[in-house]
Parts: sequence; C-alpha cells; structure tokens
Amino acid sequence: MAEIGEDISLAKSLLLKGDLVAIPTETVYGLAGNALDADAVARIFETKNRPSFDPLIIHTDSLEKVSRFVTHIPAPLEKLAEKFWPGPLTLLLPKKSIIPDLVTSGLETVAVRIPSHPLTKSLLETLDFPLAAPSANPFGYISPTTAQHVESQLGEKIPYILDGGSCKVGLESTIVGLEDGQVKVYRLGGLEIQAIENLVGKVQVVLHSSSNPKSPGMLKSHYAPTKPFILGELNEMVDKYLLSGTDFGVLSFGKHFPKLSENRQISLSDTGSTHEAAKNLFAAMRALDSLDVSVILSELLPEEGLGRAVNDRLRRAAATESD
Ligand code: TXA
Ligand code: MG
Repeated sequence: MAEIGEDISLAKSLLLKGDLVAIPTETVYGLAGNALDADAVARIFETKNRPSFDPLIIHTDSLEKVSRFVTHIPAPLEKLAEKFWPGPLTLLLPKKSIIPDLVTSGLETVAVRIPSHPLTKSLLETLDFPLAAPSANPFGYISPTTAQHVESQLGEKIPYILDGGSCKVGLESTIVGLEDGQVKVYRLGGLEIQAIENLVGKVQVVLHSSSNPKSPGMLKSHYAPTKPFILGELNEMVDKYLLSGTDFGVLSFGKHFPKLSENRQISLSDTGSTHEAAKNLFAAMRALDSLDVSVILSELLPEEGLGRAVNDRLRRAAATESD
C-alpha cells in the first residue's frame, strides 16, 4: 500500500531513485517519474497499463527550465505560456534530444505544462529534471481528483502519494499546439477556449479521430466508468427506468428526482456553474460507478464556460470502443 502524506523531501528522494510518486495538480493527480530517466518512464507506462504509443506530458516550474527541454517556443504559444502558466494548459513544443523518445512516443514535439498546485510547485522547484506524469489512473478509466482515488487504484503499485487535497479544476489540462502557423487545440480541458481566443484569436479545435496522429492517446472511449453510461434527456430516461425496475444512478446538472433515492443521484452543480460541475465531475462518476446499479444516466451541460470540456468527457464516458 502506498504511503499518503505531504512530505516533499520524501517524494524527491523517491523520484531521484527512479521510483514513481503520485502528485497533486490543479487539474487531476499525476503519476510522476523522472522524465529524463527512460527506465522510470517505462515504469509509468507499465504501472498504468498504458500503450506506449500514447505520449506523456512533462511538468516543470519555470520558463527557464522549459527552455532546457525544447528547442524554442513559437511566438503565439509563448504568449499563452506567459499568460496561463502556471495553470491548466499544456503546450506541444519541439523537443530537444535530452527528452527520451519514450516520453513522446517518437513524436518530434513534447507536451509541456507548468502546474499551479503549491505542493507540486514546491517539489518541482527542488528538481533539476522535469516530471513525466500522465493522470494517475489505470488506462481508460476516470482520472483521479483526490489522493484516495489514486490509492484505491494504484496504491498497490507505488510507494508514495503526495496528498494535496481535492483538485480545484477537476478536468485535465487543455492541450494546445501550432500547425502551419495556426494555433490548434487537441484536447478540451480546464482552460476555456474563450480565454485562449481572447489572447491569440480564433483557434481550431481538432479532437480525436483515427486519422489524427497529433493526439494518438485521445481514444473516443476514455474517462470511462465500468458501468454503462447513457446520455440523454434525463426526465424521460428516469421515468422510463423507474418503470422498468432496473437499478440505476443519475448524474445531473442541477436536477433532483424525488422518486429516486437520494444516494443514487448526484447533481454536479445546483447553481448552474460549469466550473463547479468540472470540479465535481470525476468524483461523482466514481461514486455512481461504485453503487450497486446496472446503469448510470446523465445529461449534457450547456456548451459555455467549461461546459464544452465537461461534455467532451461525458461523451467519451458514454462511447464504446467501436464508436
Ligand atoms: O492535466 C493534465 O494534463 C494531467 C496532469 C497530471 O498534468 N495529465 C494528463 O496526462 O492528463 P495524460 O497522459 O492522461 O494525457 C496526456 C495527453 C494524451 O492524450 C496524449 O496523447 C497527449 O496528451 N499528448 C502528449 N504528448 C503529445 C504530443 N507530443 N503530441 C500530441 N499529443 C500529446
Ligand atoms: Mg489520462
């Protein structure tokens, strides 16, 4: 079982030995290892059961350090870095050879992020290597937003979890790159598109498709509970399932169903806040997934604020591999 605590020097000494440590970030918890140590990186893939064609994000704490790992930062991306780092933004940048090919699955670009969580920031400040860290969940499952989520799934496999409480943003970082001089978004996440566009103008959103080699890891079915997850008009679905006698859970955006027991329904936000919904999303999916129900019913949010990114995760949870 992993030890859980707030001991930065213990985390540092484990990482220096090549061990893996789970770290808190403002988005989700990461499964971290020394990004310059190919053995540690290989252990990350193995621990998560992650296919090696799905590249990792490296984390560090300053633009000066970033410049040690990438050849340059194209101007529009630098503008985003200066404005939104530390924060829920990942940039795809041309890598230097010091970054092992295993980190980038052989791609020429490396995904880089400066996270804002104070505990992880302090840890990164003491390290002279970046941390490669995918979300600390088994491949394909829901990302962890508390130390306990990490413990319940990877606790047997890692020595230490740095406990930074529950994640403030709750959704993974927004991934941004530059292609043919154009700023492109490859994953919707904790930084709103609107905020990016306010700085660099209109951007193109290119999400997963099998012909999109830029985001090899963004399989359509991802962030998925183990129970069937169905999206639709909640009032209708709840009535139908109540009649059918099937045991089900409900994940709503502000709706409450008096005919259904309280512990089988979770509202992501009662005030219509898409940010609150994002923060609550993954913990709520996990809680419903652990109930003795055979299906989870849910609904989409309005496509504003973080609604678009939350909806992306809801759609992926509802998708099957063959979709
Ligand atoms: O918020 C986050 O980004 C969290 C925290 C821990 O920082 N990390 C995270 O990592 O979500 P992960 O591994 O679960 O997702 C990283 C995504 C993958 O979908 C991967 O395909 C994409 O980033 N990615 C990484 N490097 C890439 C590259 N060079 N080009 C295109 N996509 C890349
Ligand atoms: Mg992930």
